[in-house]
Amino acid sequence: MALILGIESSCDDIAAAVYDTEQQQIIAHHLFSQISLHELYGGVVPEIASRAHLAQVEPVVAMTLHKAGITSADLSAVAVTNQPGLAGSLLVGFSFAKALAWARNIPLLPVNHLAGHIFSSHLLDDGSFRPLAYPHLAISASGGHSSVYRVSAFGEYTEIGNTLDDAAGEAFDKIAKLLGLGYPGGAQIEKLAAEVNFQDFFKYPRTKQKSSGYFFSFSGLKTAILYDLAKRGYIELGANTRTPLLTETVRQQVASSMLVCVGDIFVHMVHRILRDMPDLQGCAFVGGVACNQYLRTRLTNLCNAENRFFAASPRCFSTDNGAMIALVGAHAFARGVSAPLSCDIFQSVE
Ligand code: KG4
Ligand code: ZN
Repeated sequence: MALILGIESSCDDIAAAVYDTEQQQIIAHHLFSQISLHELYGGVVPEIASRAHLAQVEPVVAMTLHKAGITSADLSAVAVTNQPGLAGSLLVGFSFAKALAWARNIPLLPVNHLAGHIFSSHLLDDGSFRPLAYPHLAISASGGHSSVYRVSAFGEYTEIGNTLDDAAGEAFDKIAKLLGLGYPGGAQIEKLAAEVNFQDFFKYPRTKQKSSGYFFSFSGLKTAILYDLAKRGYIELGANTRTPLLTETVRQQVASSMLVCVGDIFVHMVHRILRDMPDLQGCAFVGGVACNQYLRTRLTNLCNAENRFFAASPRCFSTDNGAMIALVGAHAFARGVSAPLSCDIFQSVE
């Protein structure tokens, strides 16, 4: 039996989890969210994030081990996010993991954050591992990235598409900010959209997808919403765009129309890829945006119609978390790979 600790600190959350390779199960996970520290600024402030990680990394790991009923002496290896992310944030988790690996003389397993998200679709709500058929498509959408991958085996993936501008989560966050909603915006947009039953009031233009390649584009949607609201007289454009005339009804209508538009963009993209690559067995949906039930339902319906499986990461493991890092680390551990303690944050082993 091996117990793998996973540590994640790439952005504004610091999280840890323990994966038990015999039970194939996350046996404990814990997270400290910094949302309250950053919401005042409408986005993540890197220095505030890294300094808060410095204060929280030890208590978060200690709590995770406590929940698992183990001590650091029981660990077989320590996996940690190394890239991509905010360097100052990454360095906190990475340095802590190095110290632990050195103190306990166990392997250090640097894990790519995006690989963590991609393989989080293998986890169920209770942290147990679920097998998925390969090859499959993985859509990873969060505040920092929106990419599509062809996943051919556990640990083997090729990026086949990306975003040309904003990430999907970033689009939710920016539009939420425009509407005067809090940060992060995705969940708030979804809540407002549900109140008006996900109707498409404004029919914002759908970005035309190129016939070759699989690229998202979300910045046009943000601009379309901005100018549409200005045209209707709800907001004043300028250096300091203000939204004094936005009513609750308009907020709901914009949120709902935006979500439907993003749903159409996702469905269209997945549909194209599944048609182009008939060997794909299904579609995994991961990253913070995968928390969105409306988008999950749209993609489930599509996959059912196309006779493919649909697997979303559980909500607790969709936004940044330690479990996905522990899981990918466990895979590296099984293959006997690890990194020297002299390694930098740009070297991963999955
Ligand atoms: O994966 P994550 O925690 O951080 C990054 O690696 O970026 O994702 C955070 C993002 C935010 O942009 C947030 O607005 C979005 O996930 N998000 C959602 C929902 N919940 C979180 N987007 C759409 N609908 C949601 N329910
Ligand atoms: Zn992430």
